[in-house]
Amino acid sequence: MGKKYNVAVVGVGVVGIEMLRVLKERHFPVGKLSVLARSARNINVDGATYPVQAISSEAFEGIDIALFAGTEGEKGAATTYANEAVKRGAVVIDNGADFRMDPKVPLVVPEVNAKDVKKHKGIIANPNCSTIQMVVALWPIYKKVGLKRVIVTTLQASSGAGKSAVEQLKEENSKIAESGYIDVQVNVENKAMPQQLAYNVFPHIGEFSDSDYTSEEWKLVKETHKIMHDDKINISATTVRVPVRTGHSEAVYIETGKFISPEKVKDIFSKSSGIILVDDPQNNLYPMPKDAEGRDEVFIGRVRKDPFVKNGLWLWVVADNLRKGAATNAVEIAECVILN
Ligand SMILES: NC(=O)c1ccc[n+]([C@@H]2O[C@H](COP(=O)([O-])OP(=O)(O)OC[C@H]3O[C@@H](n4cnc5c(N)ncnc54)[C@H](OP(=O)(O)O)[C@@H]3O)[C@@H](O)[C@H]2O)c1
Repeated sequence: MGKKYNVAVVGVGVVGIEMLRVLKERHFPVGKLSVLARSARNINVDGATYPVQAISSEAFEGIDIALFAGTEGEKGAATTYANEAVKRGAVVIDNGADFRMDPKVPLVVPEVNAKDVKKHKGIIANPNCSTIQMVVALWPIYKKVGLKRVIVTTLQASSGAGKSAVEQLKEENSKIAESGYIDVQVNVENKAMPQQLAYNVFPHIGEFSDSDYTSEEWKLVKETHKIMHDDKINISATTVRVPVRTGHSEAVYIETGKFISPEKVKDIFSKSSGIILVDDPQNNLYPMPKDAEGRDEVFIGRVRKDPFVKNGLWLWVVADNLRKGAATNAVEIAECVILN
């Protein structure tokens, strides 16, 4: 029998729940499983009951791998407990943004930079969901012909903002339905997003802080540079929340270093690991978030030339933000850790 690892999953929101599913589906060699959140209770996932313990530093005793999917920030799970887990001998894989740009912390998408896992000093960061699917698409083209410029507009689902955002969208939709679809301006009590999302889209994910760009837009720039080890790629982003439950879409414009035809790009994608090419627009075939929900791959379509710029190409990139954008990528990192 192979070695087993004691695993902790921290947080049982939309990402934490998906982590429990992915660990099971991928037959991760789990010894003892500890599920931790702010309060103790039992939760049910696909018919299986998981006891949830209230988090404490001591809960990390004997844990080999700690997968963090708690809320970010000052009082978030990773800022408070990641170092406590590392002190007790665990390798932490964190889904939040708190450690991603720390030079001592590898930021990993296994299809791109799996070898960075080896450099960890206890903590490995999982990138932002919109960054993960974009770099999976960019990497094979970058390796072949280089990249000078990336302009991306994201269309991000409600679940990207956590379970309370999914609830907000549901509640807004039912209030609009109750009005007989006459009034599409609604107000709900628990607002997890800065605007109404039902019957709406808004270009505001993260905070504007001291820049014209949002923090989410900067994540796409800085995290891509770190993962691809190249900060010379010019990247500019607009991130938009759309009324989709799960599955982020991205319109990605690239200017390559050398000319490459769309046919060659499609050929490369069809042979790349973790990518499924869905590109037959004449037959209405292109990736859509409803089809990507529950899947682990990144779906790419609408590969086409810019009619005015020789090295310009458009890509349409879709992935499940809770799977490849979070839980699956984190568990894949854990698989790299145990193989090293
Ligand atoms: N949603 C996405 O698409 C996505 C993608 C990539 C990365 N992420 C990141 O993944 C993390 C989790 O996101 P989510 O969308 O799953 O959030 P969520 O649905 O809001 O769930 C948050 C979970 O974190 C737990 N939690 C909060 N503070 C905690 C603390 N101090 N100690 C222990 N547990 C704590 C909560 O516990 P209780 O249930 O007890 O309240 C809850 O279960 C965030 O850092 C997020 O930025 C999310």
